[in-house]
This record gives sequence, C-alpha cells and structure tokens, in this order.
Amino acid sequence: MLADRVAVVTGAGRGIGRAIALAFVENGARVVVNELDEQAGAETVALCHERAGGDDAAAVLHIGSVADADTARALMAQAKARYGKLDVLVNNAGVTRDAMTHKMSDDDWRQVIDVNLTGTFNCCRATVPLMRDVAKAELDASGHVAYHRKIVNFFSTAAINGNVGQINYCAAKLGNVGLTRSLAREWARFRINVNAVAPGFTDTRMTQEKELRDDGLGIPRAQRDAFIARLPFGEPAQPEHVARVALFFASALSDWVTGQTINVSGGHQIP
Ligand SMILES: NC(=O)c1ccc[n+]([C@@H]2O[C@H](COP(=O)([O-])OP(=O)(O)OC[C@H]3O[C@@H](n4cnc5c(N)ncnc54)[C@H](O)[C@@H]3O)[C@@H](O)[C@H]2O)c1
Repeated sequence: MLADRVAVVTGAGRGIGRAIALAFVENGARVVVNELDEQAGAETVALCHERAGGDDAAAVLHIGSVADADTARALMAQAKARYGKLDVLVNNAGVTRDAMTHKMSDDDWRQVIDVNLTGTFNCCRATVPLMRDVAKAELDASGHVAYHRKIVNFFSTAAINGNVGQINYCAAKLGNVGLTRSLAREWARFRINVNAVAPGFTDTRMTQEKELRDDGLGIPRAQRDAFIARLPFGEPAQPEHVARVALFFASALSDWVTGQTINVSGGHQIP
C-alpha cells in the first residue's frame, strides 16, 4: 500500500507511533522514525529493519523534539537527505501532564501545548519545501500533481468529549482539529490530504496505571478501571488498531478523503 513512499512518523519510539512505523514499513514505505528517547527510537528502527526482511534502508532514526521549529525542519531535511523526498507525515508525538485546573502549573500547560499543538504545526510547516512546493512545481509544469501526498494528525476522543484533569491536553488536541481542517482546505489544490485519527482508550504507556509509574504519566487506577468498564468492546484498543487507520489515511485508498477524522474508539461514543 505504500510502495516507494517515504514517511516521517513523529514520536515513533513506542506505542501507537511504533505500530505505525512498523505498519508502514511492512507495506513498502521507508520511514524516518522521530523520537525524543534515543533508546526507544533505536529499538523501533531495529524492529522496522526486521519487519522489512533485514533491509537496513527501511528506516532511519531522528532524535529531537517536534516542539522545536528548527528540529522539525532538520527532521524533514533528513528524509530528503536519506531518501530523496517526503510523501507522508504522521504527527503522532504527544504527551500528557495531567492536573486539575486549580493545580496546573504554567510548565504543564506549556509543555502539552508545545508538543501536541505547536509540534504538529512545526512539522506541517517544515514539510513545505518537500511536499507543498514539490506538488506546486508539478502542477505548474504539467497541470496536475503526480500523486496525493498525505498528512495524518492526532486528536483524541477524550479531547472531543472534554476530560477532567486534562484541560491542557484537550485544548491542544482540539486545536489540532482547526489546524487539520484549515490545512486540508489550504493544500487541497496541491493534492496534499490532511486527515486525523482520534484514538479512544489505547493500551500504551500514556494510559498505564499512574500508580505503577514515577514519571507523572498514566491514569489513576480507579479512573482507568471505570473508563475501561464503559468501553463497548470492554477492553482498550491495541496500538495496531490505530496504526491500520493511519495506514488507510497514508495510502491511496483515502485519496478522495481530506479534512476528516476517524475515531478509533471501539464504538465509544462522542456526545
Ligand atoms: N493512548 C491513548 O489512549 C491515546 C488516546 C488518544 C490519543 N492518543 C494520542 O496518540 C499519540 C500516541 O500516543 P501513545 O499512546 O502511543 O503515547 P506514548 O506515550 O506511548 O508514546 C508517545 C511517544 O512520543 C514521544 N514524544 C513525546 N514528546 C515528544 C516530542 N516533543 N518530540 C518527539 N517525540 C516525542 C515519546 O517519547 C513517546 O515515545 C499521541 O498524540 C496521543 O496524544 C493516545
């Protein structure tokens, strides 16, 4: 489904991002694996090589934060330097710093906005020379764009519903709704499709029991158990369930779909 395509997947060292990188490689893409955590990123790259039947050219590592605009530019430049082009960007990198509003620090607010919202903007803008400008040159030269290029962003069903203790995260993820719909319109003439995945409760580090961690990530056990009990399928999604929808948006199967969101929530309803 992605033969000859080059993709950047941000935050691909674990969880949903890793599953997306693996699904893409399995479907013929070459992938730049962006990650903050060097060890996790290197593990994903090694798994990608394995998944590609031992092909060491299937994936390459980029270390750095999407919250930094220059880092985002360097990330896209690495795709160009290593693989000669860029066709797909997946803005998967995300972080939570949960607190009730009356206790939320400026740092908690800023970090979550910087990574989840500004990081998505930084990466979209950094693709301009490799996606928008290349498509425009094709359009100017021949009257049509060679093929659809793809951007896949991330919302969250928690953000769409609103969520206690996540005012920063919900604001950032809903900010990505406006970003996705606007960019879809702006770049439609260049056949750059901009869509989004909104995972529901998915089994990753982000949703592990907080009591088992010492880094502030995760969800309090009681809240986690109550949430899972309300899921129609009775269990969380696995990262691969979300990755398959990202693969759909990255592939030609979705060429006539843009500015849309698919909730990957196992039937958990948005009010
Ligand atoms: N797990 C869920 O239930 C769920 C639900 C809805 C949405 N999401 C979204 O899905 C995406 C993936 O989440 P996940 O559950 O796999 O999380 P995760 O914590 O397992 O993985 C996220 C990865 O992103 C990396 N990262 C964080 N900040 C970064 C930065 N500034 N630059 C580059 N990489 C960075 C982390 O190091 C980590 O490896 C996120 O956007 C998240 O908000 C997850």
